[in-house]
Amino acid sequence: MTAAISTGASSPDRVILPSPAEIRRSLPLVTVRGLRVAYDEHVVLDGVDLDLFPGEMVALLGASGSGKSTLMKSLTGFADIAGGSVRVAGHDVTNLASGELRTLRSEVGQIFQQFNLISRMSVLTNVLTGGLHNAGRINIAGSFSSADRQRAMHLLERVGIVDKAKAPARSLSGGQQQRVAIARALMQRPRVILADEPVASLDPKLASSVLDLLREIATEDSIPVLVSLHVLPLALKHSDRIVGLRHGQMLVSAPTPDLDADALAVLYDDGEAPDENH
Ligand SMILES: Nc1ncnc2c1ncn2[C@@H]1O[C@H](COP(=O)(O)OP(=O)(O)O)[C@@H](O)[C@H]1O
Ligand SMILES: [Mg+2]
Repeated sequence: MTAAISTGASSPDRVILPSPAEIRRSLPLVTVRGLRVAYDEHVVLDGVDLDLFPGEMVALLGASGSGKSTLMKSLTGFADIAGGSVRVAGHDVTNLASGELRTLRSEVGQIFQQFNLISRMSVLTNVLTGGLHNAGRINIAGSFSSADRQRAMHLLERVGIVDKAKAPARSLSGGQQQRVAIARALMQRPRVILADEPVASLDPKLASSVLDLLREIATEDSIPVLVSLHVLPLALKHSDRIVGLRHGQMLVSAPTPDLDADALAVLYDDGEAPDENH
């Protein structure tokens, strides 16, 4: 079993933030050791180690093709694991029992660059679909329970777009759509959140506000948030820890305050870290 820190908070103004020491003391919700993924002869991840602790926002850096998405897929059983061990929220991903994959995926909230919303449906319905991982939540008439609707509205309030609940998802701006996707992920009551390039389609100001929101969720809900990014200043500003892949190997893993752009240049072939003008 894994343990999460309890903030003892039921409303945002009563949040007691865990100290970094408290975060470290709790058990990791994700533990990866010696992970190897290969497609035919091509080794994509090579001996990767990773721990994710409750309450921390971890930025995953690396050049395009370094294996960031594959690492995230490995955590949810979407990659063919050739070696090593992967434990996520108590599940041994390399050795899942029958039916366990569905449970694992219901416990991991995923957020993508392109939001992946159902564009013609309302914002509220999109959020409600996040709860569908848990079987039996739709009644016979095919509608959602009032408890679920209330919860979805509460989550839309939390991500700051409750006034858009009835609007079709496609009518929202990119930043707003990503907030819907975050609310949808929260609807699952995730134990871990994986966000693969969640701000790559947003301008820098919106990108910052979405990352602020994700970090707030990590802290308030005491869950780890792993977020891949390719803009270094965003990673340095919005994470507690940075891990970095180069050619499938984890070359960096350190608290963010210990790192700067020079220290991270090792992740990039030309020694030049990408900036905002990627
Ligand atoms: N399904 C696949 N089949 C073959 N090669 C793949 C597949 N998925 C990813 N790769 C390769 O694995 C490497 C890492 O890809 P990826 O994890 O998407 O990197 P990143 O997210 O860091 O850009 C790339 O060389 C990519 O071409
Ligand atoms: Mg990728």
